[in-house]
Amino acid sequence: MMKIAIFASGTGTNAQAIIDQAQSGDIDVEVALVVSDKPNSKALIRASSSSIATFGFNPSNYTYKEEFESDIVVELQARKIDLVVLAGYMRLIGPTLLSAYEGKIVNIHPSLLPNFPGLDAIGQALRAGVSETGVTIHEVDAGMDTGPIIAQEAITIEQDDTIETLTKKIQAVEHRLYPQTIAAWGNTIKLEGVKSK
Ligand code: GAR
Repeated sequence: MMKIAIFASGTGTNAQAIIDQAQSGDIDVEVALVVSDKPNSKALIRASSSSIATFGFNPSNYTYKEEFESDIVVELQARKIDLVVLAGYMRLIGPTLLSAYEGKIVNIHPSLLPNFPGLDAIGQALRAGVSETGVTIHEVDAGMDTGPIIAQEAITIEQDDTIETLTKKIQAVEHRLYPQTIAAWGNTIKLEGVKSK
């Protein structure tokens, strides 16, 4: 079974959705680790409540990103992690982690990329007055919310939508689409394994 590590900085509702579906057997995935750059984050509390190992670190205890990413890679390799799943991890991934998990890091973003990358993507879409936004899941490269797109789903913005109502709609799509997409990715990895034998 594919082993994943989820990286999250905040509330971790996506992490929870993935953990729930993995633990109920809805997806053929094991969440083996949750990593956070906020040692007191809700995401780490959720992981502990589900008996999942955690690695929390404080970036200000390190001088360079390379140092904490090296520590993360040690954790990932010790647990034989196949895929890194970013779920609200609000940091760019550096060369140390990118090269250790090349092509095996995915991210979710609350817009139809390449529109509205970066912070407050939902607010950006509302302020721009567009009639639709959505959710994008993509492979991670060195850029911010860039990298090849794996899955996208559009959501209509209604006239009376607010940041709260639109966030709810986006989260509902994220919590369904992300676990499914990760599981499908796992099957691809398995098939590639068979092909290369
Ligand atoms: C999610 O909406 C995710 O798409 C977004 O952060 C939120 C995390 O929510 N990610 C980005 O904006 C990445 N640029 P959660 O902590 O409740 O899962």
